Amino acid sequence: MKKVTILDVQAMKERGEKITMLTAYDYPFAKILDACGVDIILVGDSVGTVVQGVTNTLPVTMDEMIYHTRMAARGRQRALLVFDMPFMSYQESAEQARKNAGRAIKESGAEAVKLEGGENVAAAIEAIANMDVPVMAHIGLTPQSVHRMGGFKVQGREAKQRKKLLADAKAVEAAGAFSVVMECIPAELAAEITASLKIPTIGIGSGIRCDGQVLVIHDVLGLYTDRKISFVKQYVNLNEVIVKAVVTYLDEVRRGVFPDKEHSFFMSSAEKKKPKK
Ligand code: KIV
Repeated sequence: MKKVTILDVQAMKERGEKITMLTAYDYPFAKILDACGVDIILVGDSVGTVVQGVTNTLPVTMDEMIYHTRMAARGRQRALLVFDMPFMSYQESAEQARKNAGRAIKESGAEAVKLEGGENVAAAIEAIANMDVPVMAHIGLTPQSVHRMGGFKVQGREAKQRKKLLADAKAVEAAGAFSVVMECIPAELAAEITASLKIPTIGIGSGIRCDGQVLVIHDVLGLYTDRKISFVKQYVNLNEVIVKAVVTYLDEVRRGVFPDKEHSFFMSSAEKKKPKK
C-alpha cells in the first residue's frame, strides 16, 4: 500500500483528480476512514465541539491535540495525517509556531500541520515550512476567529472581504503552504481562488470547484446532533442506529434476556462431575 504524501496531493491537483479529506480523532475512526481510501485524515480542533462538547474550538490545547492525533496515527496506514494547531499555539510568534509545530510532528505521528489565517499568519507558515514541516493553511471562515467574525458566517460575499480572501490565498501560498482549506466561501470566489493557486484547495462549504473536499466525520455520520449545518451532507444517521441498539440492550438486560447461553461461560463437564467437598 502506497502512503499518501504531500507530493501525491499536489499531483492530484495537476491531474484534476479530486482530493478527499475527513476528520478523525481516534484509532477506530482513523482505521475505518483509512481502509475506505480517504486521501487525508485531519485531526481537527473540531474535536472540541464534536467530541469534548464545548461550544467552540478555542479551549482545545496542544496536549489534547497530541493525545487525539496519536490515537488516529495508530489507525492510519495510507492517508496523509494532518495535525490541526489549536488556538494560541502559533499566534504569539513565529518562534512559538515553530516550537509547537515541531512538537506536533515529533510527538503525534502526523506528517503535516494545519493552521488558520491568511496574511496574518504568513510569518508562522513560513517559519514552520522552513524547518521542513508541511503546512496546510485554512482561510475564509476560521473558527478560531469566531469572536472577530461575530459568529460562524460565510466569508467573502462583499467586495472588501473578497479582495482580502484573494490576498490571503496568495499570501499562504507564497509563505510555503502545501495546500489550503477554504471554509464557507461563495462557490464562485472559491473557484477563482482555486484557479489562481498552484497549491490544492480543499473546500468545506465552498462549492464544487475546489480541488478537494473536507467534512467533519461526526457531521457526515449524524453523530453530532447539537447543530444543523446547511452545507453538510449527512450520509447516515448513526445517532438513530446507536439509540436503537442501546435501547434494545437496556430492554434485554431488564427483562433478563441478555446474557443468553451464547454469551455466557460454563464450567467444563469434568469440573461439574468433581465431588463437592
Ligand atoms: O477542525 C476541523 O475539523 C477543521 C475542518 C473543518 C477543516 O478545521
